[in-house]
Amino acid sequence: MIVTDSEQSAAKICADWRAEGLSIGFVPTMGALHRGHESLVELASSSSDRVVVSIFVNPSQFGPSEDLDSYPRTLEEDCNKVRELGASLVFAPKADAVYSSGFSTGVSVSNVSDGLCGAFRRGHFDGVTTVCAVLFGIVRPDRAVFGMKDAQQVAVIKRMVSDLRLGIEIIAAPIVRESDGLALSSRNQYLSFEERQQASTISTALRNASDLALSGEKSCKVIKNAFLVALEHSDLLRVQYVETVDPDTMIGVETTEKRVLLAVAVFAGKTRLIDNILIESEV
Ligand code: PAF
Repeated sequence: MIVTDSEQSAAKICADWRAEGLSIGFVPTMGALHRGHESLVELASSSSDRVVVSIFVNPSQFGPSEDLDSYPRTLEEDCNKVRELGASLVFAPKADAVYSSGFSTGVSVSNVSDGLCGAFRRGHFDGVTTVCAVLFGIVRPDRAVFGMKDAQQVAVIKRMVSDLRLGIEIIAAPIVRESDGLALSSRNQYLSFEERQQASTISTALRNASDLALSGEKSCKVIKNAFLVALEHSDLLRVQYVETVDPDTMIGVETTEKRVLLAVAVFAGKTRLIDNILIESEV
């Protein structure tokens, strides 16, 4: 496995693979890799001849009061993990190389980026789509894999790739969870013991709310309320949003008659956690 911070080297290696007729699967990450990321690498490697993993804590997707400086950076461990999973290239550029002087372009996907996390993290998705467009331009993958924990990110990237005709297949990988249901996240390591214990309520509450829908409840208002009620006794948890949306457009929906994504953001202490569940009621 090759590790490089050089954009020229990464682009050349990928171009050589393409010239040999090899397909490229790409997993963009910000590092601090956990089993969730590992599942993305496995998925990429099952569908492609070569797997490229980028590790880049992208400054442009963090707000001024967010955790850019404290975000965990564990490059060596990350490389060891993906090497074992058969990745061929790790591209870990420096921030000033990605946003070189004179960088003036922003990619912004409207509508699908506006609600949910987009409403609370202004500019976040512009940072994500801009860096993904840059990384896609360097790697030029056949397919790229993203985790469904960030369901809105998946929808935004799909929209960008479709609108800009980038010709990249976007694969959405299922959420990987701890044994008590907590969705894996690089930010889980910020949680205190008590916050970590209460955080498992989020996935239990999502599942119970989804079961309510599957047993016939059609009103999204009732389903969202069931989620809120389930968290009422967890004094360290604070719900930022609970929304029911169309999973492709992220537009709010009122009934569960079609596929509905129940998506939430919850603070456990100071740590912001997101999670979601897809509800596919029979009609
Ligand atoms: O999901 C992430 O880790 C980041 O948003 C991504 C896609 C690597 C862009 O920086």
